[in-house]
Amino acid sequence: MRRHYNGVSRNHMVYHTNVYAVAEDRKYSEILQPFFAEGRLNVLDIGCGHGLPGPLSNAFMPRIGHYTGVDLSSRMLAQARRFLSKEIKGGKAELHHADLVEFLPTLADDTYDRVTAIHGTLSLVDRSNIPKIISQCHRILRANGYGVFDMINRRPDMPRHIRNYENRCIKGVPTTPVDTYTPQEMRRYLEDASFEVELMAGLNVIGASKEVEDYFVRQQKVLENKVKKGSKGASEKLERLRKRAEEIVNIDFEACQDDLSVGHSLIAVGRKIT
Ligand SMILES: C[S@@+](CC[C@H](N)C(=O)[O-])C[C@H]1O[C@@H](n2cnc3c(N)ncnc32)[C@H](O)[C@@H]1O
Repeated sequence: MRRHYNGVSRNHMVYHTNVYAVAEDRKYSEILQPFFAEGRLNVLDIGCGHGLPGPLSNAFMPRIGHYTGVDLSSRMLAQARRFLSKEIKGGKAELHHADLVEFLPTLADDTYDRVTAIHGTLSLVDRSNIPKIISQCHRILRANGYGVFDMINRRPDMPRHIRNYENRCIKGVPTTPVDTYTPQEMRRYLEDASFEVELMAGLNVIGASKEVEDYFVRQQKVLENKVKKGSKGASEKLERLRKRAEEIVNIDFEACQDDLSVGHSLIAVGRKIT
């Protein structure tokens, strides 16, 4: 896992600039916005990676009083350190290099307003640890605080032997095991940990296909090079590509809500009730 994310860390910065990733994170921010309406939130981000650059950060950073990130990969954290350098200097953010499974029990009860695990982080952790992790998140949240758990989704009818798969984002980088979760399973995990489930949302049917994401990355690179060389037509095409990404993400989102099991991401939000 650590070697995988150290290997893919550079590629993760594509979230800063790729039109498809940006459109998807904009949708993601819209979904989570109601849970980030208050200000000065004390937030713990488990598996924080590069510190969430992009629309998610733009939407939530102004709402965050203090950000604590924890991650296993030193290279992902190095990027987070650069991205959050102002916040870290100002005492508004801190980063920890640790395994979240060991880190969570070291934190005090009733401390955070939000605990987030974004972009499938908990799908990378061994399933046997999930009940413990979710109940630790519940313990460290303040009353009425929210836990945001974004998992890699699974259709309930998917055969057992393909429920777990090896993720290889980039050639030459070690794979990492990924586990998948149904909405029913996530509801049970949250309720067993005494969370009240406030949201289950599906996102990203098409993005589940690496080819689609790669297509947008490739096209954008080609068009940006042409723009640099002064091609006017390329600017228009780039704008069309951006719009197309947004359309796909929106159509995708609507489709997922009718049947939560079809999305690639499953976003489960639970509230700590008093
Ligand atoms: C898919 S990336 C998501 C990163 C970030 N949350 C985002 O939204 O861009 C998953 C991250 O979880 C981290 N991770 C996986 N297992 C972990 C563990 N047991 N403890 C801490 N971090 C972990 C990986 O190193 C990686 O940076």
